[in-house]
Amino acid sequence: MPLDRKPAPNDLRAFWMPFTANRQFKSAPRMLVASKDMHYTTADDRQVLDGTAGLWCCNAGHCRPRITEAVQAQVGELDYAPAFQMGHPLAFELANRLVDIAPEGMEHVFYTNSGSEAVDTALKIALAYHRARGDSARTRLIGRERGYHGVGFGGISVGGIVNNRRHFGTLLAGVDHMPHTHLPENVFTKGQPEHGLHLADELERIVALHGAETIAAVIVEPMAGSTGVLMPPKGYLQRLRDITRKHGILLIFDEVITGFGRLGSPFAAQHFGVVPDMICCAKGLTNGVIPMGAVLASAQIHDAFMQGPEHIIELFHGYTYSGNPISCAAAIATLDTYAEEGLLTRAAELETYWQEAIHGLRDHPHVIDIRNMGLIGAVELSPIEGHPGKRGFDTFVKAFEAGILIRVTGDIIAMSPPLIISEAQIDELIDTLGQVLKTAA
Ligand SMILES: Cc1ncc(COP(=O)(O)O)c(C=O)c1O
Repeated sequence: MPLDRKPAPNDLRAFWMPFTANRQFKSAPRMLVASKDMHYTTADDRQVLDGTAGLWCCNAGHCRPRITEAVQAQVGELDYAPAFQMGHPLAFELANRLVDIAPEGMEHVFYTNSGSEAVDTALKIALAYHRARGDSARTRLIGRERGYHGVGFGGISVGGIVNNRRHFGTLLAGVDHMPHTHLPENVFTKGQPEHGLHLADELERIVALHGAETIAAVIVEPMAGSTGVLMPPKGYLQRLRDITRKHGILLIFDEVITGFGRLGSPFAAQHFGVVPDMICCAKGLTNGVIPMGAVLASAQIHDAFMQGPEHIIELFHGYTYSGNPISCAAAIATLDTYAEEGLLTRAAELETYWQEAIHGLRDHPHVIDIRNMGLIGAVELSPIEGHPGKRGFDTFVKAFEAGILIRVTGDIIAMSPPLIISEAQIDELIDTLGQVLKTAA
């Protein structure tokens, strides 16, 4: 590019946008230019109520002073420190802080830069763990239909969303999938559904098919978010825990969405009373401010690696930005904000209000299901015949124009507002969505 070339401010061509209908967006852009607490400001200076915490990540709301100031201060003090064979104090402090709020038994933290990397890291740790114990035939990984575990090759292999898989070749070998937990008999359930415990027993069928001694790990989202908010039936996660434990298989919870208070506890594992062997987290870890993810691991897993000569690297894995100072500063300030404002349990306090508000949309046009848990809710619309996803997308665009940010997966609307939302703002979000639904084609 010649040095005298000025960037054209309105030229949208160069940026190839992720998970976006690029041509549609660029013909009618939806631009955000500022944010504060519960709101975004658009380029045409409108206030938009954030019904999705950004992308399920800004759990404390936007531009919170403590976090902003911590990042500003850190970038001027220690901007970067090498992540391999060197350390800096904040990475250790943050790991201890995470262990303090994690479920009992999660004692170690491995840093990544995203949820996708946290998932691939956990899968690699699972494989290497068995190998370190001399159990190297355990190479299979089990995911679930409709699961979303990010976009790395590991994550799309164990994930179960067809469009995320079908374009990318043969993926990882030796992966199998359990059925998803979304059953028609559970429509309009408030909270955890009654039906579907038997779906956990499908894991026994998979174990019988492949042999337990070939399976390294099972990975599930305790509550599946990106695929359209699918709840775990009552008893389901405990049953998975029992089966995995019985067969020496590791259980990984992907808590990239459910971590940091979304269901009313720090992690969903605590909410459901089921402790896995590893937890993947990201998003709310830094309130979405700086990219960061992590894998929390049990002492049993970590300790299996701590053998052999002390000068030898125990796990040949890591990222240039693993535990970088600025992400750590953002995460520590985020945890402080959550603690000061009681945000990790606020979803439990608001759950009933949220539930009644969202289920109030039941009789609106095209609504075929509503489901909720913690501060998450989904409204499923019937698809327009021959055009799946169109009604959902049109609703998303109209909602944005009407002043609320929602998210759609196909024809399923998902909402997960910042945990600082007030009851009046819940009313505003749901009432506005109701108005939009009433005008839907
Ligand atoms: C459950 C789950 N796992 C993994 C990811 C991937 O996270 P990232 O986009 O930070 O890579 C997501 C993102 O939405 C997620 O919801």
